[in-house]
Amino acid sequence: MTSHYQIAHANCLTWLRESHHQNIHLSFVDPPFNQGKDYRHFDDSLPDAEYWEWIKEILQEIYQATEVGGAIYFMQREKNTEQVLNVLHESGWSFQNLIIWKKKTSAVPSIYRYGKQYQIIAYATKGEKPRVFNRLRISPPLPSNYKHERQKGMYVTDIWDDIRELTSGYFAGDEAIRNSQGERFHKQQSPIALLLRIVLSSTNVGDIVFDPFAGTGTTLVAAHQLQRGAIGVEIDLENAEYIKNRLADLRKADDISKYYSEYTYTENLEKIWGSKLFQTSF
Ligand SMILES: C[S@@+](CC[C@H](N)C(=O)[O-])C[C@H]1O[C@@H](n2cnc3c(N)ncnc32)[C@H](O)[C@@H]1O
Repeated sequence: MTSHYQIAHANCLTWLRESHHQNIHLSFVDPPFNQGKDYRHFDDSLPDAEYWEWIKEILQEIYQATEVGGAIYFMQREKNTEQVLNVLHESGWSFQNLIIWKKKTSAVPSIYRYGKQYQIIAYATKGEKPRVFNRLRISPPLPSNYKHERQKGMYVTDIWDDIRELTSGYFAGDEAIRNSQGERFHKQQSPIALLLRIVLSSTNVGDIVFDPFAGTGTTLVAAHQLQRGAIGVEIDLENAEYIKNRLADLRKADDISKYYSEYTYTENLEKIWGSKLFQTSF
């Protein structure tokens, strides 16, 4: 089976209103967090009410464009948890999980509350039950107080502490896209392992995955290799062009096959994965 992808250079709200899609199965929403970051085509310091109203409109449009039972994963800062859950509810989505993505780097310290070490990903569906939920099994290292090895790994829970973020410096490794000076091309690039888990859990081969804030195209890179259709919208032309190149010529660092063994205890893994022998051109 071949999978198709589409990259639109557009404002996602306008694109959603004009595209009349109704067959999306999964969306990953990783918007600017309105924290004063230096985006070329976005004012990241909107008044709070305006920002959340804008997010609500986008979530409503995605809801309309999604098939019944389809899923949304909305990533945000933990301090916005209340707004995230409210805005999902107000735009029609049914809450399923609040995933805690625990970062590998040190916590952001605070003098009057606990240091912050995670980001939230709210998982919700159109309707009470998902049309697809593949129960993935992983096999993380055994905690030191466990007496017996796990025979078949364990189901993925709502705490994800095994996925490395692409932070600054050496820690970002090969996967972080860099310019000729060695600086990261896009500071908010998501890791492939994160999108791989989301796409594997909430879609089957041939489904359609949507990312309204595509950035560097991580969602499309994961979905395409997993033989899902993928649509990405990105407002910044340089990013949109980059995504096209990234997909046309996948880098070794983007190859998902290295993660296959992490999910080996998952029932029907070959079927969910599509083809573990996906041919890349590096
Ligand atoms: C947090 S980043 C997403 C990063 C992405 N997950 C990745 O792996 O690269 C948000 C992206 O949304 C884009 N953006 C901002 N406003 C937008 C809009 N109205 N429509 C489409 N894209 C937008 C920004 O240019 C930025 O690349």
